[in-house]
Amino acid sequence: MNTTRILRRGLTTAVARPDIAHFQSICPVLSPSTGHTASDLDPFNTDWMRKYRGQTTLVLKPTSTHQVSQILTYCHARALAVVPQGGNTGLVGGSVPIFDEIVINLSALNKIRSFDAVSGVLTADAGVILEVADQYLAQQSHLFPLDLGAKGSCHIGGNVATNAGGLRLLRYGSLHGSVLGVEAVLPDGTVLDDLSTLRKNNTGYDLKQLFIGSEGTLGIITGVSILCPQRPAATNVAFFALDSYEAVQRAFTMAKTELSEILSAFEMMDGRSQELVAEVTGKRRPLEGEATPYYVLIETSGSNKEHDDAKLEAFLEHVMEEGVVSDGVLAQDETQARALWGWREGIPEVLGHWGGVYKYDVSIPLPQLYDLVRDVRARMVEEGLLSETDRAAAETPAEFPVIAVTGYGHIGDSNLHLNVAVRAYDKRVEKVLEPFVYEWIQKVRGSVSAEHGLGVAKREFVGYSRGETELKVMKSLKDLFDPKGIMNPYKYIKS
Ligand code: FAD
Ligand code: MLT
Ligand code: ZN
Repeated sequence: MNTTRILRRGLTTAVARPDIAHFQSICPVLSPSTGHTASDLDPFNTDWMRKYRGQTTLVLKPTSTHQVSQILTYCHARALAVVPQGGNTGLVGGSVPIFDEIVINLSALNKIRSFDAVSGVLTADAGVILEVADQYLAQQSHLFPLDLGAKGSCHIGGNVATNAGGLRLLRYGSLHGSVLGVEAVLPDGTVLDDLSTLRKNNTGYDLKQLFIGSEGTLGIITGVSILCPQRPAATNVAFFALDSYEAVQRAFTMAKTELSEILSAFEMMDGRSQELVAEVTGKRRPLEGEATPYYVLIETSGSNKEHDDAKLEAFLEHVMEEGVVSDGVLAQDETQARALWGWREGIPEVLGHWGGVYKYDVSIPLPQLYDLVRDVRARMVEEGLLSETDRAAAETPAEFPVIAVTGYGHIGDSNLHLNVAVRAYDKRVEKVLEPFVYEWIQKVRGSVSAEHGLGVAKREFVGYSRGETELKVMKSLKDLFDPKGIMNPYKYIKS
């Protein structure tokens, strides 16, 4: 269900029968006129959260950059609106149509083009699935410098289009640093070949940067070149229980000091999120002692196992001695490491279990980061929408629409995921959340979108984190690239 009311624009045209015949001459097409049913089209119209639903009757699946170019040349001439779609795992409603925009799905554009083991540069089609790219690189002892829970479905083109952050940004940095080149088809069908494999290139404006995080509003990314690090020979994962948010911050400072160059992830999960994962998955919790309000997952990645083990053990002893953590466990092998990651990576899926989830992906200065979760929880209780006592979700009395208010995220990047799990999307809950959350973020000079992007969910709220001049320049860029407004309309920023 799309909860934002958006008016259909008169600028773009509706798809007609001759259009479909034309597209059929270019690439594979899914449409009722080619014998496909509504349920064939449903996966392309519905987002991962089942919150946004479009009504497209036309999905195009190009297999080459040339085909994407032919499609956009035609759409531009006919003023047909399009939505570029990767793995459709986006969490802000950007990857599905609002009305009947044509979906251009990149999943058939999925070849690895080249890999140079000396420089570590991978060049690949945009539709390669992130996990496939990483597995390919593993065979060459390299690693894709991005990892996230949706890796089995999301595309590297989608990752670049959203500037995804993920679980190891702390170590490998943002895609703005690791992406070396982008091949993109502009809205009028022109191919922009900025698929450089150079680390240094100061010859003029850095055009590829505009596409990183542009969410399909400036063109369609068809190829990506990216600098990939050597795969670490040794990886360790530890999971800790902590009694306060102050202790989480202290543990982070200590991890940076004592694990320094081998620290590759520092993730926080609050106690409520872990209770819910245990309840839904039925798994035994990693730490047997009493539940605590915070948990942290630390990962190290290095080249020398003995050295890393010694460092991590010394760190473990130190945080225990100092009383910073109350309990902890260290994975003994890869299976245990994966299981521990499951307690973090499994949260998004679990939170959608009861029918809906309001997600706020925000940047907040670390000292205040968890205060937002506390404040939202208190407001929900005050408004009678959330029970005062935490209990098993299955036992939450029916009069409360909210199951839980939880927080987790990438502490290493000051990125909180505030999630409000509900039985069903509910206006009463929404009214309490917005604009409250955005005003709160503005007061601490945070960002209303840390890593998921804007899509349709945030387009009304960009002004809480961006000034008028910034927005004006952004709109001018959009007009310059896409004067007819055919690329992912109704998304990103309000025009
Ligand atoms: P889609 O969802 O298909 O599209 C996302 C946006 O990009 C849309 O606006 C679309 O129009 C545009 N787009 C897609 N492909 C192209 C292209 N080739 N050219 C131009 N525009 C394009 N995000 C994070 O940042 N960090 C996380 O840790 C993280 N974890 C996640 C965990 C789960 C379980 C899930 C479901 C999502 C998670 N996400 C995370 C969000 C999401 O996976 C990322 O935003 C991802 O990068 C989207 O890739 P996609 O291929 O699925 O893109
Ligand atoms: C994550 O870090 O798990 C993702 O960004 C997805 C989410 O926020 O739920
Ligand atoms: Zn995240």
